[in-house]
Amino acid sequence: MTLRSVVKGTGSALPSRRVDNAELAEMVETSDEWIVERTGIRSRHIAADGETTATLAVEACRKALESAGLQPDDIGLIVLATATPDQTFPSSATKVQALLGIRDCIAFDVHAVCTGFLYALSIADAMLRGGNAKRALVIGSETFSRILDWEDRTTCVLFGDGAGAVVLEAEEGERGILSTKLHADGRHNGLLFVDGGPSTTGTVGKLRMKGREVFRHAVVNLADVLSEVLSEVGLTSSDIDWVVPHQANARILDATAKKLGLPPEKVIVTVDRHANTSAASVPLALDVAVRDGRVKPGDLLVLEAMGGGFTWGAAALRY
Ligand code: UT7
Repeated sequence: MTLRSVVKGTGSALPSRRVDNAELAEMVETSDEWIVERTGIRSRHIAADGETTATLAVEACRKALESAGLQPDDIGLIVLATATPDQTFPSSATKVQALLGIRDCIAFDVHAVCTGFLYALSIADAMLRGGNAKRALVIGSETFSRILDWEDRTTCVLFGDGAGAVVLEAEEGERGILSTKLHADGRHNGLLFVDGGPSTTGTVGKLRMKGREVFRHAVVNLADVLSEVLSEVGLTSSDIDWVVPHQANARILDATAKKLGLPPEKVIVTVDRHANTSAASVPLALDVAVRDGRVKPGDLLVLEAMGGGFTWGAAALRY
C-alpha cells in the first residue's frame, strides 16, 4: 500500500457583493458583449471593506473542515496560496490559524500567483507523506480587486475575489494525490506582473498584463503539463473523469480541452460567475463540482493552472 494525501473535505467562500459586466461598463469603456465573447465572464464577486484574503480563507476552511467531519485542532499544517496577503508579513496562513483557533501547527503562505494552489497542494502532499503532519488545510485565497487598476479595461474586467480550501489527510490506499508537476519560467515576468512591491517601490502596486501573449503561452503550457502528469501515472486523457482548471478565460479552457481531445462536458467551468480568482480558482471550482454532485469518490481528477512568473502546474488525483 502507498501512503497518499487524500482529499477529505472541500469548502469555498465568495464575497457577498456580486458585480456583473453591466456595472463595469459604467466604470470603463467596455460592454457585456465584449467581456462574454472574449472571456466567458458574466459576473464576479468583489470583497467589501473588512473582507480580506484571510477572512475569506477562514470561511472556506470552516466549510472544508465541516465536510470532512473534523475540528480545527485536527489540522497540523496550513499552506495558503495567495498573491494578495493581508499583510506583507506575517503570512496570512498564521492569521487563518489564529482565526480558526488552532494553538499549534505549521503555517505558511505560498506565492505562485494563479498556479499557487497547485504549488501549495504539491508542497502539502510532500510534507504529509514525509510525516510532518497527519492532516493539512490547503487554501487558495485572493482579493485581486485590491491590486486592480480600475481604470484599465484590459485587466479590471477579468478578475474577482474568493477562496477555496481542501482538507488533506495522509492515508494508505489507492485514493489521493497520484502525481503533481510544477514549472516556472521567470523570463516572462514582464507579461503578467504587479508594478510595485516592498523591496522596489515600497508600494503595493497594480496588476499589469499583456493578455494576448499570456493567452498564447497558457494554451501550450497547460496542454503540455496535463499530458506530463497523466503519462507520469500511466493514464491517458480518456481516463479523466473531470478536469478542474484554473478559470482565466473560457476560450483557454476550450482550447486546452480540444488540444487534449477532451469533451467539454468533462471540464468544470466557473469562470462565468467567479471570473479569474487567481490561486482561489481551482479549489473554488472543485468545491462547486463536489457540492453539486458531479465529482464523486473514486473519480480521476486533473487540476491545472498557469499564471504570473510564468508558473504552471498540474495534479492528478483519485478523489
Ligand atoms: O490567470 C493568469 C492567466 N491569465 C490569462 O490566462 C489571461 C490570458 N489572456 C486573455 O484571457 C485574453 O488575452 C484577454 C481576455 C485578456 C484579451 O482578449 P483578446 O482576444 O486577446 O483581446 P486583445 O487583448 O487582443 O484585445 C482586442 C481588442 C483591443 O482593441 P484593438 O487594439 O483591437 O483596437 C483592445 O483594446 O479589444 C480591446 N479591449 C477591450 N474592449 C472592450 C481590451 N479590453 C477590452 C474591454 N472591453 N474590457
